[in-house]
Amino acid sequence: MTAKRILLGMTGGVAAYKGAELTRLFTGEGADVQVVMTQAACAFITPVTMQALSGKPVHTDLWDARIHNNMAHIELSRDRDAILVAPASADFLAKLAHGLADDLLSTLCLARECPLLVAPAMNRQMWESPATQRNVAQLRADGIIVLGPASGDQACGEVGMGRMLEPADLCEDVLVRLHQPKVLAGRRVLLTAGPTFEALDAVRGVTNRSSGKMGFAVARAALEAGAEVTVVHGPTTAAAPRGARLVAVESAREMFEAVQANVAPCDLFIAVAAVADYRPAQSHEHKLKRSDRAMTIELTPNPDILGHVAALKNGPFCVGFAAESRDLDGYAQAKRARKGIPLLAANLVQGTIGSDENELVLFDDAGRHALPRASKLEQARLLVAHIARLLPDRARSGTRPRRRR
Ligand code: C5P
Repeated sequence: MTAKRILLGMTGGVAAYKGAELTRLFTGEGADVQVVMTQAACAFITPVTMQALSGKPVHTDLWDARIHNNMAHIELSRDRDAILVAPASADFLAKLAHGLADDLLSTLCLARECPLLVAPAMNRQMWESPATQRNVAQLRADGIIVLGPASGDQACGEVGMGRMLEPADLCEDVLVRLHQPKVLAGRRVLLTAGPTFEALDAVRGVTNRSSGKMGFAVARAALEAGAEVTVVHGPTTAAAPRGARLVAVESAREMFEAVQANVAPCDLFIAVAAVADYRPAQSHEHKLKRSDRAMTIELTPNPDILGHVAALKNGPFCVGFAAESRDLDGYAQAKRARKGIPLLAANLVQGTIGSDENELVLFDDAGRHALPRASKLEQARLLVAHIARLLPDRARSGTRPRRRR
């Protein structure tokens, strides 16, 4: 995955302070950020701050002699994968809509070859005004991607539409659009994620330490690759991927029902959830009371969701996960054969459950493929690339991918 090169354009608005956090998030994701600010943006946050966070001199001037051919308006965007203008003021949107080019940033936008994304930020009446709405419609028609705005409290004290999207959301939206290639374009993907919770009584239950982070990372990687994604997830506090359809469930049986209800149109099923293998045979409506006697809880097996989907006639291409505490290869190979699935991603639980990193080993017909230890998102991207190579080509088969027998 090559580092993404982003030109962050900032215009005048109170939300300019969020540009600092946005730059930090982009660089944290391995992106290279070149900041260009308008004069008005410099009234809200200084180029010094933005230079420190991006690690590059900030450009503000159309006539900047530091650029060797003195053509900053052309040169600065040539090596960029995208321009993001955040915040984008009402005035700047108007300039873009009309092709005005009277400062460095507007000139760069007009002379660009790369995609342009804008994150509007303004007072709600400025946003709702017919002129701004006309301009935004024109920008969309011109192929410019408009991210947000959101609704909420505004710096002016009013409440409404016009808040810039939060930096974390903007960072995710931009990177999702930039990650290439779109190896799952047109594919529908169903995922399970997180733990399940099997109620014993009104307050207690059987669960496990799955955080849901890996499942959500795979969902995000599938979205980046152009797929339409539905995630059926158990109880989790992990940040859900933007753009996925989410179905929240609690128990394994609810997860099973939700998977059955959503699997039909899917090309690909990725079972990342740590589904509880057993549930209490009896679930009590009211809280069980303490006593001095020993208590025995009978457990009964839960349905095997992946096993069921893998056995469907004309079902989707199935990918399983296995978390093991020892003999990774032995257990993983046996599990792949038992479930009858083409691909299984396995990891040792030590140091990975709840962590932001993982170290997956993929098992398929061709053998064993160890992925380098990396963030769960990086691992998910590598997994998605691997899956895409195994997925049968629908154009040639004329039907959905067939599962391995
Ligand atoms: O069956 P086992 O837990 O050994 O295999 C793990 C894989 O099966 C994971 O992909 C998990 O999401 C899936 N699974 C499931 N339903 C279960 C148990 C596991 O879908 N009841």
